[in-house]
Amino acid sequence: MLSKWVFINKAAIINRFLNLRYLALINLLNTLANQLSLLPTETTVKPFLRWAGGKKWLIKNLRQFLPAKFNNYHEPFLGGGSIFFYLNPSKNVYLSDLNNDLIETYIQIRDDVEGVIKLINKFGSTEQDYYEIRSHNFSKSQKKAAQFIYLNMYSYNGIYRVNSNGGYNVPFGFRKNISLDENNLRLASQRLKKTNLIPQDFGISLERVKKGDLVFIDPPYTVAHENNGFIAYNQKLFSLEDQEKLASWLNELKDRGAYYILTNAKHDAILKIYEDQKPIEITRASTIGGKNAVRGLISEYIFTNIKQVY
Ligand SMILES: C[S@@+](CC[C@H](N)C(=O)[O-])C[C@H]1O[C@@H](n2cnc3c(N)ncnc32)[C@H](O)[C@@H]1O
Repeated sequence: MLSKWVFINKAAIINRFLNLRYLALINLLNTLANQLSLLPTETTVKPFLRWAGGKKWLIKNLRQFLPAKFNNYHEPFLGGGSIFFYLNPSKNVYLSDLNNDLIETYIQIRDDVEGVIKLINKFGSTEQDYYEIRSHNFSKSQKKAAQFIYLNMYSYNGIYRVNSNGGYNVPFGFRKNISLDENNLRLASQRLKKTNLIPQDFGISLERVKKGDLVFIDPPYTVAHENNGFIAYNQKLFSLEDQEKLASWLNELKDRGAYYILTNAKHDAILKIYEDQKPIEITRASTIGGKNAVRGLISEYIFTNIKQVY
């Protein structure tokens, strides 16, 4: 009788011990899984284009502006797409820009990255090669995309500038140690897979923003920082009227219950146009003007309707 009792209890103790270990193991696995989901599980993808007004510098400041969660993501002034690549939003993504060649390039990278890589690798790297490749008016989208990325890599300062006929006219850059980051292009292609890429004016892009969506708005800076100069990024200048139209869109986005983050130059003219907005000033280091670069601090404005977390 006694030995049976000992046996049952021994079994119960072993059972309980195993259960506890089992539970401990489950707990440990759960904790690990939770911790893993808190870590940035995504690989870093860098913008694959050099782009005037690129917002890579904003990334380290961005977290404080982001809403805890959001639905669809919109970037109506895509350019080099630094914020999109950083955020890697999980729901529907709408990326647009008025620059048709730029959006076509993204589409080709999304749909046939290997084909584009192959073509770029066929291009030579001398000054003569550059002007030869620049002179082509390719009709196939894939070749156009390869040419676009190649010129962006080899041109002076990576500027996008076209003449009155729409021909790219930026001179050779004499840059050293240029190489195509194929892996990053492949990662960018993955990240673009489910995105909607549309060449269009911001006014049309913003129409599709709905409640709970996040919009990152990075227009060309119409005014130069802290002086009265004008800047043209594109063949079509982003005018003060465009800025006014954009400013009125912010109230519309707020009324729709969407979140927005807009960047702009720190300038009195901007404060006047965006008079309903409370500016948040961000200062960053800047380099202006290629070879004869001037280094200094520059301030920009952020306008957002998202409460700051920190
Ligand atoms: C400052 S850049 C965007 C830079 C981008 N955020 C980045 O990190 O690289 C502004 C972009 O707005 C585009 N753009 C100019 N006028 C536009 C318009 N009316 N509608 C949509 N995009 C426009 C330009 O082609 C340019 O790519």
